[in-house]
Amino acid sequence: MKTQGNGSASGKIILMGEHSVVFGQPAIAMPLEAVRVRVQVERLAPNMADQLDSGYFRGELADAPDTLENIKVLVRRLKDFFYLQGGLALQIISQIPAERGMGSSAAVAVALTRSFFDLADQPLDPALLLEFANISERVAHGNPSGIDAAAASGRYPLYFRKGSPIEAFDSNLSGWLTIADTGIRGKTRQAVADVGKLVKEAPQARAMIFSLGLLTQIARFALEKNQLDILGQTMNDAQALLKKLTVSSAELDQLISSALQAGAIGAKLTGGGRGGCMLALSRTEEAAAEIGRQLKITGARAIWFQKLGE
Ligand code: MEV
Repeated sequence: MKTQGNGSASGKIILMGEHSVVFGQPAIAMPLEAVRVRVQVERLAPNMADQLDSGYFRGELADAPDTLENIKVLVRRLKDFFYLQGGLALQIISQIPAERGMGSSAAVAVALTRSFFDLADQPLDPALLLEFANISERVAHGNPSGIDAAAASGRYPLYFRKGSPIEAFDSNLSGWLTIADTGIRGKTRQAVADVGKLVKEAPQARAMIFSLGLLTQIARFALEKNQLDILGQTMNDAQALLKKLTVSSAELDQLISSALQAGAIGAKLTGGGRGGCMLALSRTEEAAAEIGRQLKITGARAIWFQKLGE
């Protein structure tokens, strides 16, 4: 056992398949390397209580607000796993905006788990990493598909289906994504619960989930075969369905229509919705930058760029 351990993870974007992935449909996600979270864990004297130093709270972990319950639960499980007695000092430094559909809670869970395994000087199997991260995700999101933890822990685009092995695949697409933050906190837990209710009660909603799954399969084909226009169309079609499922918002709709007016080939929300972030697809870096400029004028709080394919 060392005295200090470190772990990190990236944010993620869901290109296609948010919400429908909860119901067993496939989704495509990728790590967003531009935003990362780092966690440091340090052993304290045996009589000391666990301490947390994060952007949201500084003090004894036991006094942290309910919004950090996922971290408290995961720390308890990791301490039990390693038979760790005595206090720990946890420091979380995150560039990932919270509750914006970028998987910040999953990334913290992945980085935290890695920091404990580093402290214990133990190798960490990817499946065990996801198991720990999803303990935290269940507390944060109620009924997570597991896609956020999978994307935050990997380095490549992935094709994800709940309960199936994660598939990496070759993206040969030469395109760019502009990612914009509405600045409004999404409400993933509530959005997932509301879509669940709709699906239970309305056959049309069940059909929409199925259609979102089909669009994801078409999007994978488009990524593999470098069909930018097809990918853009699937994004637009997915956005229309997500809106009907009540998970878009006025601010997201405004950024999406501004991106399309600025020449985006397709645009949609990403992640839980009801705020958070949107994505816009374009052919070149210059086009992505122009869309970013327009989105800033429309009111985006922050902008990131991601190259698709090699
Ligand atoms: C959240 O980033 C993605 C959702 O599909 C929820 C989940 O998959 O757990 C909305």
